[in-house]
Amino acid sequence: MGRSVVRIVRHWVANRGWLGLFAEVFRQLKKKVRSLAGRRKGLPAPSAVKRLEVHPFDTRYGVDTGGLIWGPSLGSGTKGEYWATGYYGISPSFFQQALDRLGLDWPKYTFVDVGCGKGRALLLATRYPFRRIVGVELSPGLAQVANSNLERFQAEWRKDVPAAAFAGDATHFDLPDGPLLVYLYHPFAAPIMREFLKNLHASVQRSPREVYLMYINPELDKLLGKTPFLEKLSRECLPMAEEDIAADRFGSKEEYVSVYRHRSPG
Ligand SMILES: C[S@@+](CC[C@H](N)C(=O)[O-])C[C@H]1O[C@@H](n2cnc3c(N)ncnc32)[C@H](O)[C@@H]1O
Repeated sequence: MGRSVVRIVRHWVANRGWLGLFAEVFRQLKKKVRSLAGRRKGLPAPSAVKRLEVHPFDTRYGVDTGGLIWGPSLGSGTKGEYWATGYYGISPSFFQQALDRLGLDWPKYTFVDVGCGKGRALLLATRYPFRRIVGVELSPGLAQVANSNLERFQAEWRKDVPAAAFAGDATHFDLPDGPLLVYLYHPFAAPIMREFLKNLHASVQRSPREVYLMYINPELDKLLGKTPFLEKLSRECLPMAEEDIAADRFGSKEEYVSVYRHRSPG
């Protein structure tokens, strides 16, 4: 208990600084007071609101992409785990809107899911005719689940694109050649994000190319905004579909996405 509180505080301070920590504590207290006031008025507490146990995406396609696994419980046995947020699959309706709005010339790009977990985003990416679809995942167990999901996934809209998940740490992952769409669903805190950005920078210096970076739940927008080799293109809030809301563990109805681009000179 004590260690997990220390870890949460260290994440907040690393991501937002001490001022950010105080702002977050204040926000949490306000939320608590509101929920107590709501309960007095007879409203159900957020945790008492009925939620779908299994996401309809999993039921529809016979895959296993559900659940919530916090960082320290990932079971990867690596140091990276301390700074990992945890596993939680993306809302499918949100993912599709975010990619549709980007509207790239898909066959030119390799989709790279940084922290692919059980592979929900990899499965959703098969809707688009990417050159290749690749995921890297800290937890070998989750990477294995992602690959077995890819094997059995038979959505009628799935394009015939090579797709695979690899177990490993994103900070050392050898990023594929050619133009990339690098996708992150807030996988880790600032110390690891800095290391990952170093890895990405080294990769585009070695092999100059165009890279789009899509960052969902962009907690570290400030950090990315200060990264010289990235140009910020947009930040948007997009709504989630009813079935995603019904299955959401955090009671979210919408999500934020920021898009960045790197263009190598020449
Ligand atoms: C919020 S989940 C996102 C899952 C998936 N990308 C999606 O959109 O459905 C973040 C994932 O990042 C992984 N992760 C955290 N740190 C990592 C690292 N250093 N290298 C690779 N994966 C990491 C976690 O294990 C977790 O599965």
